[in-house]
Formats: sequence, C-alpha cells, structure tokens
Amino acid sequence: MSNESAGALAGKVAVVTGSGQGLGLAYAQELARHGAAVVINDVVQETAERAVEAITAAGGRAVAVVAPVGSTEAATALVEGAVAAFGRLDILVTNAGVLRDKSILKMTDEDFDLVIQVHLRGTFTCAREAYRHFKENNVAGRIITIGSPTGQYGNFGQTNYAAAKAGIVGMVRTWALEMKKAGVTANAVIPVAATAMTETVPFFRSAVEADRRGEPMPDFFRKDLGFGTANDVAGLIAYLASDEAADITGQAIGVGGDRLQIFSHPQPVVTEYRDGGWDFDSLREQFPAAAEGNLQRVGEKLPPLPEELQTAPQAR
Ligand SMILES: NC(=O)c1ccc[n+]([C@@H]2O[C@H](COP(=O)([O-])OP(=O)(O)OC[C@H]3O[C@@H](n4cnc5c(N)ncnc54)[C@H](O)[C@@H]3O)[C@@H](O)[C@H]2O)c1
Repeated sequence: MSNESAGALAGKVAVVTGSGQGLGLAYAQELARHGAAVVINDVVQETAERAVEAITAAGGRAVAVVAPVGSTEAATALVEGAVAAFGRLDILVTNAGVLRDKSILKMTDEDFDLVIQVHLRGTFTCAREAYRHFKENNVAGRIITIGSPTGQYGNFGQTNYAAAKAGIVGMVRTWALEMKKAGVTANAVIPVAATAMTETVPFFRSAVEADRRGEPMPDFFRKDLGFGTANDVAGLIAYLASDEAADITGQAIGVGGDRLQIFSHPQPVVTEYRDGGWDFDSLREQFPAAAEGNLQRVGEKLPPLPEELQTAPQAR
C-alpha cells in the first residue's frame, strides 16, 4: 500500500457482517489497513475472535459482535457495538451470507426463507439502522452491499439466492435516491473469489489449487472469468468506503481477479406504442416482429474451461 492511501480511512469506523472468514474477513482487514476501526460480525464466537486477533496483530483496531444478521435486534447491536467501542459509525458492509442451493421443486420453504432472511432482510435491517445513525449524526456514510452474478443473470439451482441478490441491487437503486440528500452512498459489489462458498466448485478447482500452492491463478481465471482471491475484491470495498467515492452511488460493480465491471441497470431494449393499448390480437400480430433479436438471454455466459485446466467434469 502506498503511503498516500495508507490513512485513507483514518478516523472512520466500519461494520462488516459475516467477517469471521472468507471475503468478509478480507474486507475487514483491508478497511483496517487503511486506518478504519472495524466491528467484526459472525455467528461463531471463535471465528469472530480469530478475525479480531488477526487485525489487532497487524496493528489495526477491531472488536467482535456475535449475532446472526437478519433481525432488527442484530442490526441495532451492530450499530451500538460500533458506537460503544469506537464512538461512531461511517461504513457498513453487508456481506453475511449462506447458500441453500436446490432446483425449484426440491427447494423447501425453509431453504427459501433462510437465504432471504440472511442476505435480503439482513441487508435491509443493517442498512436501515446504519442509515438512521448516519442521518442523526450527520455522517456522510457508506453502505456497501454484496450482490452476486446469480442476482444479475440467474443461475440454475439458486431461486432463493437469485431473489435475494437481485433484491439487494434493487434496494441499492432505491437507497441511492432516498439517501442522496444526506450525502450517504449505497452501492452493490458483485464479487467472484475463491472462498469456502466457491472452492468446492469443480470449474474453479485448478485455480484454487494454484492459490493453495502459493502460485498465481492462471490468466483464464483471473481475466476471462474474473475469478481470483478474496484480497482481489477487498480494494474496491475500501475505495467505495473512502472520501474519493463520495459521488459513486446506486451502482452495481463487479470485481474479481484482474477484472472490474460496472453493470448496467435494466432498461427497455424495445419500446412500441399502439393507440388504445395492446390486446391479445395486436400482440399476436406485432409482438414477434418487436421481439425479433431482442429477447434477452439468461444465465451467465462463461467461456469453456481450456483442456489443460480441466481437473474434473465441467460444472459450476
Ligand atoms: N465467493 C464468491 O465468489 C461470491 C460470489 C458472489 C457473492 N458472494 C457473496 O459474498 C459474501 C461472502 O461470501 P464468502 O464466499 O466469503 O462465503 P463464506 O461462507 O466464506 O462467508 C460467509 C460468512 O457469513 C457468515 N454468516 C452466515 N450467516 C450469517 C448471519 N446470519 N449473520 C452473520 N454472519 C453470518 C458465515 O459464518 C461466514 O463466516 C456472501 O454474501 C456471498 O453471497 C460470494
């Protein structure tokens, strides 16, 4: 880190949910490296405490608040924990997450509700309580939510997760409007990285194995797939948290490996008018021509895994 950026977040206080391990831990460490004091949150006490120790051992400041995000009580405990330990709150990163992947007929109500509770409701309740604090204390705060390629494109077996992650980006667009006057920004980061959540996916295996051997991941992963390590994502979190990103709001920004992407928001690709509106017969007549070449593809289009990187049958 250059000296110039070393203190970019000095004096600021951040809450990172689900930061005991994986991407959340990398975000918390990066925020701390830039000078922020950090509230680590997770559901397992030892994991949270280990994360706090890692940050304090590196010269940073951190405390743990163990609580399952989703409820208002947990969100309040996080904001109060930041204020009690460090006197303020400037940055919220809503990273906590779980997966319960199943195709729709196998997905139970419980699978659906849990994923919505942690990702979507957890993001909503934490953002609402953080924003309340920002407004009451005149803080030009930062709300950094976490989306997923699945929320942007859809993905087989992830009805619950797709709903939650697309919903998060929908909330961000709304918050950018609602929070603008208060000088608070809200964005969604769309990460792709090797963590417990992804390292068992056969498609990524040779990248994960290279990383474990301490070697760089092949270019195919870092560039073509935008897949790298958790640390590759963390820089964007710190940047969005900084004063330099004061004008960036309402965005969905993808990052992973060597790749950075700004996503478009949904816009109509075809607009047609018909006096008196569109009844069945007029649609039957005119829809095919309007739709020609304009129906949207779903699912992420991934390049095929080069043969030399195949360690298992292709799947993702
Ligand atoms: N790894 C990727 O490539 C990838 C891609 C897209 C999105 N994401 C998103 O990034 C975030 C982090 O994922 P990860 O890959 O580091 O996964 P991970 O499983 O390694 O980490 C998730 C953390 O959240 C914690 N957690 C779960 N439920 C919680 C709750 N109710 N309250 C507090 N903490 C809770 C877990 O204990 C764990 O420490 C998630 O929101 C995930 O959906 C990850």
